[in-house]
Amino acid sequence: MDATSQRLLMCRPTYFAVDYAINPWMDPNAPVDAALAVRQWEQLRQTYLDLGHTVEEITPVPGLPDMVFAANGGTVIDGKAMAVQFRDPQRADEAPAFRAWFEAAGFEMYDPKHVNEGEGDVLLAGDHLLAGTGFRTAHAAHAQLQEVFGYPVITMQLVDPRFYHLDTALTVLDERTVAYLPEAFSAGSQAVLRRLFPDAVHATMADAEVLGLNAVSDGRHVVLPAQATDLAAKLRDRGYETIGVDLSELRKAGGGPKCCTLRLRQGKASK
Ligand code: ARG
Repeated sequence: MDATSQRLLMCRPTYFAVDYAINPWMDPNAPVDAALAVRQWEQLRQTYLDLGHTVEEITPVPGLPDMVFAANGGTVIDGKAMAVQFRDPQRADEAPAFRAWFEAAGFEMYDPKHVNEGEGDVLLAGDHLLAGTGFRTAHAAHAQLQEVFGYPVITMQLVDPRFYHLDTALTVLDERTVAYLPEAFSAGSQAVLRRLFPDAVHATMADAEVLGLNAVSDGRHVVLPAQATDLAAKLRDRGYETIGVDLSELRKAGGGPKCCTLRLRQGKASK
């Protein structure tokens, strides 16, 4: 399997905390080790560098504890960047910060007309854009994504509040394959996934409950939470190399490796 070297955007969790609850993972009364969160994040960043990826960083903003989850900052494909609109007011101010970063980096900008939480809910799988809805990104946003990016958008209906973003329930492994938790999707979406990806890896609830599906693949190496041992074994059986990382502190906010990582896709020539 060929690994693709990726350009990634991350945000250091300098101001990370769990101060509010906007998903079932978050408990503002539970202790969080902020220093450990930073060390774990640094390890994730180093993992990407060791794999030969390029990591760019956006400056964290005080008062925005979830900004570490850069995947929610936008959707960037073929040199076009679609900014985001968060469902929850607590995260609203992240949107303009990410938008300014994309603009300064020279991407062609598009503004969202509906709630759209970026790559948390929008995943490019081969020639299809898989777009989640049910908790965060509005169904109406899917039409705009198709219009802007020109990829057929496939709506994925999420049904379990613990798997509120598509990237908590499904991982794109390469151009042809995905891994997912069937129970996180409506019956119709499960049928669509079986049709599109007959060879997909099915994850167990135990894998999903440690956010094992919140993984980042370059087509060969899959970076995933170390606790997702069954999923890692299944991926190795399929020929992927798995790299476990521990993001125990960020998981208290409902985020894993993929949430911390936004893929910056250039124009066609340099994917
Ligand atoms: N606390 C954040 C939220 O609820 C976590 C975001 C995780 N990001 C992701 N791409 N799944 O919005």
